[in-house]
Amino acid sequence: MQILGISGSLRRESYNRRLLGVAGRDLPPGVSLTEWAGLAGLPAFDEDREADAPTAVRELRTAIAGADALLISTPEYNASLPGALKNALDWASRPFPGSVLQDKPVAVIGASTGLFGAVWAQAEARKVLKASGARVIETELPFGTAEAAFGPDGRLVDPELAQNLRDLLGEIVTEIRAPIEQQAA
Ligand code: FNR
Repeated sequence: MQILGISGSLRRESYNRRLLGVAGRDLPPGVSLTEWAGLAGLPAFDEDREADAPTAVRELRTAIAGADALLISTPEYNASLPGALKNALDWASRPFPGSVLQDKPVAVIGASTGLFGAVWAQAEARKVLKASGARVIETELPFGTAEAAFGPDGRLVDPELAQNLRDLLGEIVTEIRAPIEQQAA
């Protein structure tokens, strides 16, 4: 099973990218996670170019189509999700219906340096994804005061948060399997 990780932050030392790194080192058996690195290369959404999309957009759509699920890790900018991430989701959501986000299992986590761990940004991202037809996992996983969340080994300091992340990865696997199990029933 392939999970595509998308960080909503472009920052080199991003805590959200670090979170995806932690997730990638602690996956259930048979699961791999690759991080999509194309966010900075996406042009602004242009409905005129929706059908004849720029190369960077086609690459994004191919990466999403090839993944069994998405794990999005987003910071919060001014109480919402970062514009670059919203832009990527807008491109991925078209054509509608029938986009690569349709029925795609997606989990959203987030880290911020504030106390609340980007909960508003996560909620906004879930709203956008639901409107796009994705199968959104409702579990909230906020990582607040992110500058203190990681140890020198790069791992999460709080064992409970580390377990919550493992549990969420397990939920993603269950969500990927859900249609297969429905067919078998
Ligand atoms: C922030 N930050 C922030 N934090 C938060 O908890 N709520 C917020 O509304 C905002 N707003 C905000 C706006 C802008 C423009 C910036 C640059 C930052 C702080 C943010 O959580 C912090 O910079 C994180 O470290 C960003 O995530 P990455 O880049 O570490 O992944």
